[in-house]
This record gives sequence, C-alpha cells and structure tokens, in this order.
Amino acid sequence: MPIDRSVDFTGIRFHNPFLLSSAPPTESESNILRAFEAGWGGVVTKTIGLHPVVNVLGAKAKFMRTSPEDAFVSMKKRPGAALHSSWNWELISDKTLDWWLPRIRRIKAAFPDRVLIASVMAGSGNDKELQNWQRLASECQDAGADGLELNFSCPHMDRRDMGSNIGKDQGLCSVVTEAVKEVASVPVWCKLTPATAEIEVEAGACFRGGADAIVSSNTFPSIPLIDPDTLEFEINVDGLVSSGGLGGPAILPLSLAKMAQMTRAFPDGSFSGIGGISDFSQALSYILLGCGTVQVCTAAMLDQAVGPNVIKRLLAGLDAFLERNAERGWSGVEDFRGLRRDRIVPQSEIRRPDAADYHSGYEVAEGYASNP
Ligand SMILES: Cc1cc2nc3c(=O)[nH]c(=O)nc-3n(C[C@H](O)[C@H](O)[C@H](O)COP(=O)(O)O)c2cc1C
Repeated sequence: MPIDRSVDFTGIRFHNPFLLSSAPPTESESNILRAFEAGWGGVVTKTIGLHPVVNVLGAKAKFMRTSPEDAFVSMKKRPGAALHSSWNWELISDKTLDWWLPRIRRIKAAFPDRVLIASVMAGSGNDKELQNWQRLASECQDAGADGLELNFSCPHMDRRDMGSNIGKDQGLCSVVTEAVKEVASVPVWCKLTPATAEIEVEAGACFRGGADAIVSSNTFPSIPLIDPDTLEFEINVDGLVSSGGLGGPAILPLSLAKMAQMTRAFPDGSFSGIGGISDFSQALSYILLGCGTVQVCTAAMLDQAVGPNVIKRLLAGLDAFLERNAERGWSGVEDFRGLRRDRIVPQSEIRRPDAADYHSGYEVAEGYASNP
C-alpha cells in the first residue's frame, strides 16, 4: 500500500501531521509563507490578542546548553555543548488584530490547501472579555483561518486574568470554550498549561465546553539559572527576573506524561502534542500515546527561524517508519496512533520479582488470606 502522510484532525485535512506551534516561527507573514514552502503541514499563528502588549526590555528568549565537559546547564555558548532547553518570557504577539487579519487572508490565498490555525487570547472574569474572545474568533475565521487555538496556557502573562491562569481553572476553561463555540464555524482547539496537578480535569472541562481538540504542552514555569561568577540571573532586567517558560528537549518526558494523562482519560478525544520535538522519534512517542498531530517551536527557532531542516527530518522519518512497518499493513498515522496509550498503568500494577509477596506496597492485613 502506498504511504499516505496526510491526516484528518478535527475535521481538517493536513498534508502531514507536523505543525509549527504558536511562537516566534509563526509571528509574521514572511515566516509563515517560508514555513509552508518548507513543507510544514500547518501553522498556528503567534497568539493574537486585543489588549496592549509590551514585552520586557532586552532578550525575550534564550537557549540553555549543557556539555559532558562541564555538566553545567547554562545560557553561555560554548563549543561542543548540546541543547538542553529554551527559556522565554515573551508575551503574545505585539501586533494588533487589524495587523493580522489582512495577513491571514493573504497567506490563505497563497496556500489555500495548507492549514492555518489562529491562536487567540483574551481575559476572563467579565462579559466584555468573553466578547473579546468571540470577536477574535469571528474575525480570524472570517479572514480565512481554518481553526482556532485558544491560549489557556502562557505561563508568564502580565495580566492575572489571562493565559495559564485560565488553564488552571476548570470553570473558566469551560466558560471561555463555550463562548467561542457559540460563534465558531471552524474547529476550536484549547491549548492547556502543563502547570496543573491533573491536566485531564481541565481537558474534560474544555471538552464539556465543546472543544474539538486539546493541545499540550506550552512551556513549563521556570526561572533562569544564576551565574556563579556574577551571582546574577543569566537573563535579568535591572537584576530582576520573573518566572518564564521552559521548552525544548528538557520538557519532552514531562510533556509526554501530561499528554498520557489526557489521552488515557479521553481515548476518543483529539490531541495535538508539543514539547521537545525536533525529530520523528520524539513525534512518534506523542502519536503512539494518541496524538493526531504534533507541533514544534524550539527546534524550529534554532533552524533558520522556521525549521526547514526539522520538517525535512520529520517527513523523512515518517516515510522511513511507514516503509519499515509496511508488512504490518501500516500506511498512515492512523494505523499506529494510540498503540502505546494503554501501557501506562499505576506503579502497583508493574510486575514484582515475587508476585505472591507483593500487596501493592501495603503490609498484609491481619487475617489476610493469601491466594493459593
Ligand atoms: C519565545 C517563545 C514564544 C512563545 N510564544 C507563544 C505564544 O504566543 N502562544 C503560545 O500558545 N505558545 C507560545 N510558546 C510556546 C510554544 O508554542 C510551545 O508550546 C513550547 O515552546 C513547547 O514546545 P517546544 O518544546 O517545541 O519549544 C512560545 C515559546 C517560545 C520559546
């Protein structure tokens, strides 16, 4: 059977399951056009909002590296060091909705068969903010966006009624999703913060509000390291720092764990996986846990801003994987999606050397009748 890279995700047809996530790679028209030329199946725009956005002075994002020589994790560049993570405290797009709308129209006119998802964000807690969500949704879809991604996930907004503070509150997750669904004619995805104890609770709330898919992870809350010589944070403004977001290789296993919690709770739900993907092997882990698409940020930022080599590797990896498994009858992503979702079980269900003596970590209760 010939290989088929395409996927149907929330009713949208993608040439391939690989997307650029909402971040600097998708912050401009020229970047998005270059991304489509490079072969990405879809892009999620940098998050668009209606409130004033003013970023901090100086660097908004940096990369941490480590090396076998010094074993330090540091933003300082040194030869032979490998990428550990990205760290950022960048806010959402500082361009207005009016700046974005004609660009969405032009991008869709240039690439009608590539998928453009508009990431949007407003506040919460009053009707005006709910109307802002609805306005963002309506205007982006009218401009041609194929879908909407609601940003409930940015860990470092300067406003308390936004971003991950919505994603941490199941009531707000439901209410905002429902408000957007009232006006949406395109699929609605909710991007959740990983910074909650039981992410499946918020995922359930989004699904109850009508979400068509859940996206995770955004970056994990974190602070930069302190330079041992200067005793200053490696990123700071006037010596001060605030919590920002960690992305890249360091968050891959963390993000997979969050994703597994959700795909196991909602095996029929649609999920888009993000976090630490630079190659097909990492994308494969997300797909085997049940994701129908995956998204990339850090690896693309480090590869000519939009990841032309990253998408080449992802596509070549998918093709090679399908060819290797052709004898199993696999020809596309649906043939192996979710295959390892059920392998994650409570610790007590993992086999012990001597099963007869093991009682899930508890003493044998008095009067316990052991199995013959
Ligand atoms: C500099 C920077 C800016 C980002 N801006 C946004 C944003 O505006 N909206 C959003 O939903 N996620 C944003 N993200 C998060 C990414 O889309 C992605 O979820 C995260 O970086 C994890 O993926 P990665 O490990 O491939 O980097 C940003 C990430 C970085 C590094």
